[in-house]
Amino acid sequence: MSKKIAILPGDGIGVEIVAEAVKVLEHLKSEGLDLELTEAPVGGAGYDAAGKPLPDETLALVKDADSILLGAVGGPQYEALPRELRPERGLLGLRSELGLFANLRPAILYPQLADASSLKPEVVAGLDIMIVRELTGGIYFGEPRGIRTKENGEREGYNTLVYSESEVDRISRVAFDIAMKRGKKLCSVDKANVLEVSELWRETVVKVGEEYNDVELSHMYVDNAAMQLVKWPKQFDVMVTKNMFGDILSDAAAMLTGSIGMLPSASLDANSKGMYEPIHGSAPDIAGKGVANPLATILSVAMMLRYSLDQPALADKIDAAVGRVLDKGLRTPDIMAAGCKQIGTVEMGDAVMAELA
Ligand code: IPM
Ligand code: MG
Repeated sequence: MSKKIAILPGDGIGVEIVAEAVKVLEHLKSEGLDLELTEAPVGGAGYDAAGKPLPDETLALVKDADSILLGAVGGPQYEALPRELRPERGLLGLRSELGLFANLRPAILYPQLADASSLKPEVVAGLDIMIVRELTGGIYFGEPRGIRTKENGEREGYNTLVYSESEVDRISRVAFDIAMKRGKKLCSVDKANVLEVSELWRETVVKVGEEYNDVELSHMYVDNAAMQLVKWPKQFDVMVTKNMFGDILSDAAAMLTGSIGMLPSASLDANSKGMYEPIHGSAPDIAGKGVANPLATILSVAMMLRYSLDQPALADKIDAAVGRVLDKGLRTPDIMAAGCKQIGTVEMGDAVMAELA
């Protein structure tokens, strides 16, 4: 049966990098994988096309799709819009409307890129961490929220950091299951020394852990986790954490690997329907210049094949093709190193295609 894939390029470099990933999907189709690709606008592009960041037609499309490939959203031209019309709302709307509560953000160092990391090679060599970020709860979605005026006329902003036991339970299970398939080590990151919500988080993770005796569970405060990530990142296997902590730690972890332009992500619902996207943003500063690195988006296609389409062999093929392109010394500017050949977005996509063919 044909699998419906919604293609949402979004804004900025999203358009350029998704075009390269679509080449890979088209190639898989030509090899016999039954896919139906449909493109739709989201983010600033959604606003331009239909007056809102998550247009009704786009929402209907993604609800009906088996999987979604997203580029990135956002751009300076949209920053003055009212908050509910900003591109980021489109992304947050996709996550909440589709119930994509489990965000998997791997941080893997390709051996070919060891020199691209700002950390010493011995600190990052062989790095392979999976950050499991809760994606539909916490302070990103908690109510009440807003900006209000106090009696003395001063304005104050407020948000709510709230997690129910069931939300922590389900994200913990995802993390434990992943740990079981990897190094069987899980570190839960919280701020239980200060926040009640973290106290309940920790209690709940411990309770779920009783069902996973084979996994070594540890806990770390988020400030220490940030420090440990840059001090000795290889101590981590799988990390699980709240929405906002995961946002911050995953950017830090990404940079350990040399470039945020290399890292894919998956956002999954309870039935493994997923949205796949590079973890970097729309990079307006380099948009339209043909220099963005499409590899994170191409690797996101590999994650889609692995987690939603049940095609692990094809996923391996894409991962291997990317590895061979790097072996040949081909580099976009973000991962450029001495002795390598610098190429642009389209050439990088073509290089992966050549390896796949
Ligand atoms: C991410 C991004 C988003 C987030 C923004 C664009 C809303 O930083 O996916 O990490 O904060 O979740
Ligand atoms: Mg982020």
